Amino acid sequence: MSFPTERPRRLRARPALRRLARETALSPTDLIYPMFVREAITEPVPIEAMPGQVQHSLDSLAREVESALRLGVQSFVLFGIPAVKDGGGSQAWDEAGIIQQALRRLRDAFGGDPVLIADLCLCEYTDHGHCGVLDGDRVDNDRTLAVYQRIATAQADAGADVIAPSGMMDGQVAAIRSSLDAAGFEDRAILAYAAKYASAFYGPFREAAGSAPRQGDRRGYQMDPANAREAVREVRLDIAEGADIVMVKPALAYLDVIRRVREAIELPLAAYNVSAEYAMVKAAAAHGWIDERRVIREILLGIRRAGADMVLTYHAREAAADIPCWEELG
Ligand code: PBG
Repeated sequence: MSFPTERPRRLRARPALRRLARETALSPTDLIYPMFVREAITEPVPIEAMPGQVQHSLDSLAREVESALRLGVQSFVLFGIPAVKDGGGSQAWDEAGIIQQALRRLRDAFGGDPVLIADLCLCEYTDHGHCGVLDGDRVDNDRTLAVYQRIATAQADAGADVIAPSGMMDGQVAAIRSSLDAAGFEDRAILAYAAKYASAFYGPFREAAGSAPRQGDRRGYQMDPANAREAVREVRLDIAEGADIVMVKPALAYLDVIRRVREAIELPLAAYNVSAEYAMVKAAAAHGWIDERRVIREILLGIRRAGADMVLTYHAREAAADIPCWEELG
């Protein structure tokens, strides 16, 4: 009898055998491309800590969506940056607010081709930078819900297919579901940022969106990075409130959470490959310290392998362009 009897290398011998045995696939349609659109600019403004990403003008946003669609990326999550922020964040629901303008513009230009997802939060729109209505130095959960209801219907009215509440207020999914339904938007879906951690990995995003809290931090509403069981509870609550898709965020330091949630629920699961995860790859690549294309492939496959059906990632466009060439990366 020869040793060893089990030889896993048999299925690694040639590209065709490796393709046959491959467990995880990634397609451009699994990717959701997050983009920033800023009011009152005519040229895109680069985001320093996110090389390759910009604050878009309405024109450059439409051009970027067009080129991503051509590469097979069909889903987009939009963040608005208003010219003027105020205490209540009123530009978030103003029908002429930048996010509403962007949704209408993309819907007019591309019809039903793209899936348009509107991030729903107040931090980009308030002068204090918190995700809800302030009462002294504390965010008032229930008063915030009433504001979220207004924002949701404004975004749906502007053409959003999916509303994505990211503020981590208790009851936000139920509140939004009821306001959408009452306004005749029963057909619009909710992607719930269900397990969103209070994370340092959002740093570059806050530069991009100008949304860092002026005082304090978000630990009073976002999750403690030490907790995983609580993530399953958050997800179950959002499902009970009517979520259509649930999300874990960030992705890379939380792959175990993605796996746990995947095993606990049947709904589609998204994971957010957030801004600092992107920034770290770009910084190391700029130094020539990593093979960027292979690193991006492993990151995206890792998130999918952990159990996410879809990945929100700033790499969406470049990854979609590269996926047909992945085989040659070895
Ligand atoms: C808004 C929001 C944030 C992100 C997405 N939506 C920032 C935050 O909670 O501070 C972060 C995304 C990223 O880092 O890429 N609440």
